[in-house]
Amino acid sequence: MKVLILKSAELATEAASREILSLVEAKPDCTLGLATGGTMEPVYAALRQGAGAISFAGVRSFNLDEYVGLAPDHAQSYHRYMAEQLFDHIDIRPENTHVPRGDAASPNTEARLFDEAIAAAGGIDLQLLGLGANGHIGFNEPFSSLGSRTRVKTLTRKTREDNARLFAEGEEVPTYAITMGVGTIMEARRILLVATGAHKACAVAAMIEGPVSAACPASVLQFHPQATILLDEGAASALKMRDYYDFVHPNGQDVDLG
Ligand code: F6R
Repeated sequence: MKVLILKSAELATEAASREILSLVEAKPDCTLGLATGGTMEPVYAALRQGAGAISFAGVRSFNLDEYVGLAPDHAQSYHRYMAEQLFDHIDIRPENTHVPRGDAASPNTEARLFDEAIAAAGGIDLQLLGLGANGHIGFNEPFSSLGSRTRVKTLTRKTREDNARLFAEGEEVPTYAITMGVGTIMEARRILLVATGAHKACAVAAMIEGPVSAACPASVLQFHPQATILLDEGAASALKMRDYYDFVHPNGQDVDLG
């Protein structure tokens, strides 16, 4: 794992968008795995700015997850989030973007077809990830199988509480989501996880320094050969080896020894 600690959330999210833009520049027909959530909003804001000079016309994308029961035009659907945050502002072709359909007649079939579509696209070059305060990636809640494929998951009360702020007052956060599986995520050729804020510090420490365990699904990234973790000071604040990460990557800079 490459652990890069930046001085602020702004610097961490800008670094994430730079990574994505440089991949799109180097490989215009790349396949991106995309995430939603509050952490990603500044990442997509920086991408919208940078995308002026770089075309996404050849890019394909697959999103991690969607709430079961929400149609694409629902205000809290991840379809809508992606349109508002990114897709409507760049030249990516709508037919090249893939977000699981929460309103599919059979969510299980939708999940299976989603994995097949990723495979048919030749796999994901770079998977962007956020981190749940309980250690989830995608909607793979604690004790998800570390080999799981895209499927329907029941959300924990904690995740539903965390996400309630995004729903209208009195509106229930859905109980189920379709999410890429942990095994599906691990097949991406590169992983870029962004976590910001002190409320993520315990999950970050468990992911990077804890034992690999389904108790913290993100800890499986310790097995990924090319996983980069971008953190701000708050998210890095519970790391035991903090000095070492700073020594290896001063100010969160990637040092290439050739
Ligand atoms: C969203 C997703 C989730 C979020 C995580 C963090 O597509 O897959 O794993 O990345 O819940 O969410 P925020 O950034 O809102 O704290």
